[in-house]
This record gives sequence, C-alpha cells and structure tokens, in this order.
Amino acid sequence: MSDAIDISVKMGEITFKNPFIVGAGPTVKCVDHLRQAEDGGWAGASLKLAIEPFPYINWPPRYRWLRKNKLHIFSAESRLTPGEALQLLEEGRKVTKELVLIPTITYDGEDEEGWATMARRFEEAGAQAIELNMCCPNMSFNLTTSGERTEKATGASLGSDLVELPRVVGRIVEAVKVPIIVKLTPEGGKIAQAAYQCIKAGAAAVGGVANRLGIPDIDIRDPMGTIYRLQDHITLGCLSGPWIRPLALRDTYEMRFFLNKMGMDPFVLGSGGVSDLSSAVQQIMVGADAVWICTETMVRGFNWLPKVIDGLKAYMKEMGYGKIRDFRDLLHRNLKSANELTVYDGYAQVDLEKCNACELCWNIGHCPAITHPDGTTTIDRDSCLACSTCVDICPRGALSMVKGKPIPAESTVSG
Ligand SMILES: Cc1cc2nc3c(=O)[nH]c(=O)nc-3n(C[C@H](O)[C@H](O)[C@H](O)COP(=O)(O)O)c2cc1C
Ligand code: SF4
Ligand code: SF4
Repeated sequence: MSDAIDISVKMGEITFKNPFIVGAGPTVKCVDHLRQAEDGGWAGASLKLAIEPFPYINWPPRYRWLRKNKLHIFSAESRLTPGEALQLLEEGRKVTKELVLIPTITYDGEDEEGWATMARRFEEAGAQAIELNMCCPNMSFNLTTSGERTEKATGASLGSDLVELPRVVGRIVEAVKVPIIVKLTPEGGKIAQAAYQCIKAGAAAVGGVANRLGIPDIDIRDPMGTIYRLQDHITLGCLSGPWIRPLALRDTYEMRFFLNKMGMDPFVLGSGGVSDLSSAVQQIMVGADAVWICTETMVRGFNWLPKVIDGLKAYMKEMGYGKIRDFRDLLHRNLKSANELTVYDGYAQVDLEKCNACELCWNIGHCPAITHPDGTTTIDRDSCLACSTCVDICPRGALSMVKGKPIPAESTVSG
C-alpha cells in the first residue's frame, strides 16, 4: 500500500500528468477551448480533425443529445482545414503550459506522400505527437454504408482495411520523429487486429473511437421527418456518450487482450462514454492507459475534471494502488471465456410482506415458476430456472435469489 499516489501516465517520452485527454471533437477547435482544458486540469487535448484536401464533407454541426438515453448522435459536422489546425496548434502552444497538444489528421488526396507531408507540417509546427484519424464513420464509411459509391477509403473505411492501414501508418512513422497515435474504429469488427498492425508498423499508441453508426429513433407517424433541428432527412448517425460504454469497454479490452497476446505492450487510449470516475477506471481496468473524453465535455464543459481527479486519487488510496498501472488490465483476470464461468444452482424466493401483488413478475414470458393462486405470488422452486429476471423486474424488492452449489462445468457441455 502506497501513500504516494501517482496518476501520471507515460507514452514513450511524453508524460501526461493524468490519464484524461480531451478527445478530438467540437470542444478542441479553438484556443479558448485549449485554455479551458488546461485550466480544468486536463493532461492533453487531441485537436479537432484536420482534413486535406479540404473540404471533404463539411456541414455545420447538427447534434442531438438524447438526455434520457444518455446518447449523443450526429451526422452533420465541421472539420478544420490543415491551415486552421496548424494555427490552433501554434497559438495553443503559446497559451498552454502543461497541456499536451495532439493534432489529428486525415489525408484524402491522390498523392501517395500526402499523409507523410501533412504529418511533417504538424511536426514542424511543434506537435508533440500526431494522431491519425482512422476512425471517423462519417466519411467514406457512411457513404458506402448508405448506398453511395466512393473510390477512396478514409476514416473508418481505411481503419478497417488491414492491408492499406499498416502501409499508410508505416509511411507516416518513417516521415516524422514524434510518436504516432492511431485512433481506430470498431466498425468492421477488426479493431484488435488493426491495432496490432498499427503497432507492428511502428505506431507508438493505438486507441478506439467507440463511435458506431446507427439510425436514430424515428417518429413512425412522420417517417419522412427528422430528429435533427434545422436539418431535413437523417443519415446513419455517429453514436457516442454513456450509452455506448459497454461497447467501448469491449473495444479497449479487445485491443489490449490481442496486443498482450502478441507480446506487445503499447500505450492504449480508450474512449466512449467516459463521464465520471467509475467509467474512467473501468476503461483503465480493461486496458487503457489514458482516456479520451468528448461528449461529456460537450454537455458539461471542462471544469468537472478536478473533482474526478480528487476522486481518482482517493479511490486509488482506498484500493492500495500507487499508480495507474497497478489496476490497468485488472479486469482481464475476471473476464473469462463463457465456458470458464462458475454458475450456481439456486431458485427465486418471494417475501410476501413486501409483495403487493402488482402482477409484474406474473407476466414474465420465459418464467415457468411464478403463479398467483388467489392473487398470492408463488414460486415453484423445482421449475425455477434461477435466471433472476424477476428480481430485476420487481419494483418492491420482494424477490431475491437463493444460492446453491456450483454447477459442474462438465454438465453444461453438450454432446
Ligand atoms: C460531435 C463529435 C465530433 C467528433 N469529432 C471527432 C474528430 O474530429 N476526430 C476524432 O478522432 N474523433 C472525433 N469524435 C470522437 C470522440 O473523440 C470520441 O472518441 C467518441 O465520441 C467517444 O467518446 P465520448 O463518448 O466521450 O464522446 C467526435 C465525437 C463527437 C460526438
Ligand atoms: S428466477 Fe427466473 S425462472 Fe425463477 S422465478 Fe424468477 S423469472 Fe422465474
Ligand atoms: S413484481 Fe414484486 S411486488 Fe409485483 S407481484 Fe411480483 S413479487 Fe409482488
């Protein structure tokens, strides 16, 4: 147990004073954002994506924050020109002292050397690291998924091309000295393999964007309508925020697990719905060294971080962790394959003092055990599957599980 809590993390020569980095997006587009991030105690900021040649698809932003579902969705978004991003980097360096500034780039032109040339320009302007956007699903990935033919692969399309991706990453790594971070997409289902290819090609770090494309809830009485304000039609929308957390945790887990399996231990960044202490720690426990946070900075700004940092230090002290590395990957030990689980026998029981016969558990479709003779909730232990759905459904806490013996693993193997 250590009293000296160190929450800094190192990516090669770069030290982030804590694991919190503003993710590329609408809150890293101007110098004032960077100033606010530094004042709020953030360790780094990935600048808003710069695309060359410009424009690609560049609408003014039209977002929806679906508060009830904690889901952010958008399809219209504006990017920076390389000139704007270079200026932001240069001005940002003047107004910040500790904030690590990471420009993020995408090259979409014909010139084979275009990516490398672009990266060199940002290195010369003082970038401490460069992030490659191999993740944006709102570029050619959206176009091809929604029916339009595109010749070239950018963003998520390139990030899921296991042949082209390492070729591009390798060229950029050769062209610059600063570390290269590759931000990858889970679309295509190959994020772990893509991460491996990037590290093999010389990248210093990989990370996951977490964003998936989805179709927003539509009004079935107005199917030609739109959920967006000041926008007709919908397209596949880019999903983010707390709603996406379970998928985002999986992305980080998959990358770290596969990289470890291949004998690699690079810096990994996780993102997707990180909004508080617990969601940040969970990302670290599945394999992240640091987290990118975007949506939460959009809806709450930057100033909530100091409390989370205090909470992180207190949590680490309580748990006996001296540094971030002490709990990174911890969940890997608990996350077993399905056939390695320990599953117990048991049954549900009802506390009739608490039950008010609301009938909710009487209607569970898959339940063979609950009946209600004379309006009294009754559970037949022998037919109870012990699935526990009823416990979650009961609004009065009247149901609980009785735990039996572990079920022998061999009895679950089908012949
Ligand atoms: C409106 C919006 C714009 C974004 N723009 C970029 C971008 O330009 N480049 C990038 O790499 N990621 C971009 N992202 C992805 C975020 O940086 C982040 O990885 C993702 O949204 C998941 O994290 P979150 O749930 O904290 O937002 C954007 C996300 C949102 C919501
Ligand atoms: S545990 Fe499952 S099967 Fe048993 S009573 Fe509850 S819902 Fe029914
Ligand atoms: S859901 Fe709970 S309160 Fe309602 S009938 Fe079942 S046990 Fe009783």
